[in-house]
Amino acid sequence: MNTQEKILIDRLAAEHTLEGPELLALLENRTPEGAEYLFEQARKVRHAIYGHDVYLRGLIEFTNYCKNDCYYCGIRNSNRKAERYRLTKEQILECCTQGYELGFRTFVLQGGEDPFFTDQKMADIVSAIKEAYPDCAVTLSIGERSRASYRILREAGADRYLLRHETANADHYAKLHPPSLSLENRKKCLWDLKELGYQVGCGFMVGSPYQTNRHLVDDLLFIQELKPHMVGIGPFIPHSQTPFAAQPAGTLELTLYLLGIIRLLLPKVLLPATTALGTIHPTGREAGILAGANVVMPNLSPVSVRRKYMLYDNKICTGDEAAECRCCLTGRMNRIGYNLVVSRGDYPNQ
Ligand code: SAM
Ligand code: FES
Repeated sequence: MNTQEKILIDRLAAEHTLEGPELLALLENRTPEGAEYLFEQARKVRHAIYGHDVYLRGLIEFTNYCKNDCYYCGIRNSNRKAERYRLTKEQILECCTQGYELGFRTFVLQGGEDPFFTDQKMADIVSAIKEAYPDCAVTLSIGERSRASYRILREAGADRYLLRHETANADHYAKLHPPSLSLENRKKCLWDLKELGYQVGCGFMVGSPYQTNRHLVDDLLFIQELKPHMVGIGPFIPHSQTPFAAQPAGTLELTLYLLGIIRLLLPKVLLPATTALGTIHPTGREAGILAGANVVMPNLSPVSVRRKYMLYDNKICTGDEAAECRCCLTGRMNRIGYNLVVSRGDYPNQ
C-alpha cells in the first residue's frame, strides 16, 4: 500500500467524507494491500453499528414487462426474445407467505416499468401485504413514477424504495439510456421519494460501458449529497440480447473497493452484497460482506419465472437449486463469521 492510499483511507474512516480529487486519487492509485486495509476499516465501522448481523430481503420479481429500453438491460422493451410474465396479486402474496416462513421480514417488489401496474393496482398489492404481514417492511423497486404516484404508494404502506441512479454523470447517463430517459428526472425521483418519507436506495453498476474513474467519483459525490439509507451497487454484466452484448463485465475487485468506500462514507448505510456480485464470482457475496456490505437479497420469485427475469447472462439462483437460496446463504454467511437475522433490518435512526 502506498502512503497516500493509507492517509486517504484513514481520513475517510475518521471523517466519513472526502473531496472529489481525493476520491479520484484513491481510485486511481488503489493497491491490493490498500484494499485489504480499506475493508478492515469498513468492517470496524460496520461491526460498531450492526455487529455481525446480515439482513435478509426477499426479492419478488413480479413483472419483466418494461416500457424502457436501457441499453444494458436484458428485459428492455426491444428484447423480443424475452419471455414476458406478470405475477398476480395472489402469486405475490404466496411468495410472501413462503418468505415469511423462511424468516424474511422485508419483501422487495421489483419489476420493469410496466404500465399494467397502475397506482391503484400497486397500492392494492402493497396494502394487502402490509395487512397480512404488519411486522414486515415493503420495498418497491419499480422505476420512475410521478411524485403523486409515489405518495399514493407510500400511503398504501410502502416503507422503502430502491431506484439506482445508474450514473451521476449526465454524459455517461446518455450513453447508457435512450434519449427518453434523463439523469435529471432520475435524481428528481430520488429526492421526491426522500421527501415523502421513504427509506431510499440509490446505486449504480460498476464497470458499465464507458464508465471512467471520474464518473465513479461523481457517483460517490452524489451519494454524499443524497445521503440515502441504502446503496445498491453490483458489477455490470453483459446480456447477449442487448446493444452491450460484447462489452466486458465489471470486476469483482473494483466493486469490492467501492463497497468499502461507501461503507466509510455512510457508516449506517444498508449495503447489499448483490446477486450480480455472486454471479461474477462464486464467493462474490461473501467477499462483499467482508468488504463492508450488510444485506443479502435472495430471490423469492416462483422458480418457474426466475429464468425469465434475466437482466444479464448467467444470473445465479435460477435453476433447480433456487428454492434453497435461504439455506445456502445461511451456510455461506456462517462460514465467514456472520449471521443472517430474522429482522426488518431498518435504517438505525439515532
Ligand atoms: N425498473 C426498475 C428500475 O429501473 O429501477 C427496477 C428493475 S431494474 C432491472 C434493476 C437494476 O438492475 C437496475 O437499476 C440496473 O442497475 C440493474 N441491471 C440492469 N441490467 C444489468 C446488467 N446488465 N448488469 C448488471 N446490472 C443490471
Ligand atoms: Fe426496464 Fe431494465 S429496461 S427494467
